[in-house]
Amino acid sequence: MIVDSIVIGAGAAGLMCAITAGNRNLRPLVLEGGNQPGAKIIISGGGRCNFTNLDARPESFLSENPHFCKSALSRYTQHDFIDLVNRHGIAWHEKTLGQLFCDGSARQIVEMLLGECAAAGVRIETGTRITEVGHDGSHFRVSTDRGEVLGRSLVVATGGPSIPKMGATGFAYDIARQFGLRVVTPRPALVPLTLGGDDLALAAPLSGVSVEAVARLGPASFREKLLFTHRGLSGPAVLQISSYWRAGQAIDFDLAPDTDIAAFLKARKAERPRAEVKTVLAEVLPARLAQGLASDQPRPIGETGDKALTALAERINRWRPIPAGTEGFAKAEVTAGGVDTRDLSSRTLGAVKVPGLHFIGEAVDVTGWLGGYNFQWAWSSGHAAGEAV
Ligand code: FDA
Repeated sequence: MIVDSIVIGAGAAGLMCAITAGNRNLRPLVLEGGNQPGAKIIISGGGRCNFTNLDARPESFLSENPHFCKSALSRYTQHDFIDLVNRHGIAWHEKTLGQLFCDGSARQIVEMLLGECAAAGVRIETGTRITEVGHDGSHFRVSTDRGEVLGRSLVVATGGPSIPKMGATGFAYDIARQFGLRVVTPRPALVPLTLGGDDLALAAPLSGVSVEAVARLGPASFREKLLFTHRGLSGPAVLQISSYWRAGQAIDFDLAPDTDIAAFLKARKAERPRAEVKTVLAEVLPARLAQGLASDQPRPIGETGDKALTALAERINRWRPIPAGTEGFAKAEVTAGGVDTRDLSSRTLGAVKVPGLHFIGEAVDVTGWLGGYNFQWAWSSGHAAGEAV
């Protein structure tokens, strides 16, 4: 069988690419290894799919080349996707920080994309195992357990290795290397962090406690919820900063960003000397966190030395743990790194040295913040490739 374009992977990026190509009267064939298209969309955003972000802009994406994402993002924006969602009558709301979710279910987004695919003449074959990919001089040749397909162009939209139990693989990197493209070492991103030593001794008993915090690493700074876990730290502030974190680096946390704890404790020491330190702290922190932080200060605040109070304040406004690691690809919402943008055109997502070969979505070394940014990259990069194949 010969088709205009073969798209491997029926996720967010692959489906958008196929729709765009189909609307140009090409008849794309999408080959999907799993049993259903858009599996990650269905589980995304707690089942409501945070499908884009009102504030999506290039600064919200990490890459070895921070400029690479600009072209695709500017040619298919969050507003283009919102228009599509509106045309399909899908109700949505802004939850927080520009994050847009379906009112109903993430399945509506998949149904919308499949409806668009049907209207654009896209064929999708699920449950297809790809055994070999090659190029015979004029066509890309994809061998599967159901036979061979030839295509003038080949789009690899197989995502990254995060959440392997959902069938996620490093397939895109293998194809990239096979055709001579470089790959930026993939690493788990938007992932919980693990702690060790004293930091874990603080965090583990607080498992389940969450607090509004600021997480900082170099120029990156996020003010969102931090969640203590039995292994370390999670919650949006931690997931966000995890994408920037490299082994051995300390992360700065302010666990009470609206309060100068040193000044607060000093004032309370004068006003309420008989109060316990944990009771005082519970005025500005969740009670369990206050108790955990003040566990080695059992005496009333009036009898607690200034040095101890200063150290306590430091631990709250300027806590600097060095994470032991991350919870890995098994728990990572996305993969950072991927197909090296130096070997791709930012306009077409095509391989510079291999005409007709494109890589889109999470497979590429472009990673968004938490909050709908990764789907926006999937839509934008999928659209850019769909216009070019
Ligand atoms: P994606 O992984 O979606 O699709 C790749 C497809 O290729 C899959 O269908 C896979 O089965 C298939 N495939 C893989 N290997 C193959 C092979 N060898 N042969 C054939 N097919 C193969 N982002 C966001 O913006 N908002 C959100 O709310 C969420 N929520 C969220 C929750 C959870 C639990 C996770 C794990 C992730 C998110 N994300 C998210 C991230 C988002 O899901 C992710 O960035 C996009 O799905 C990436 O889209 P892609 O199409 O690139 O890959």
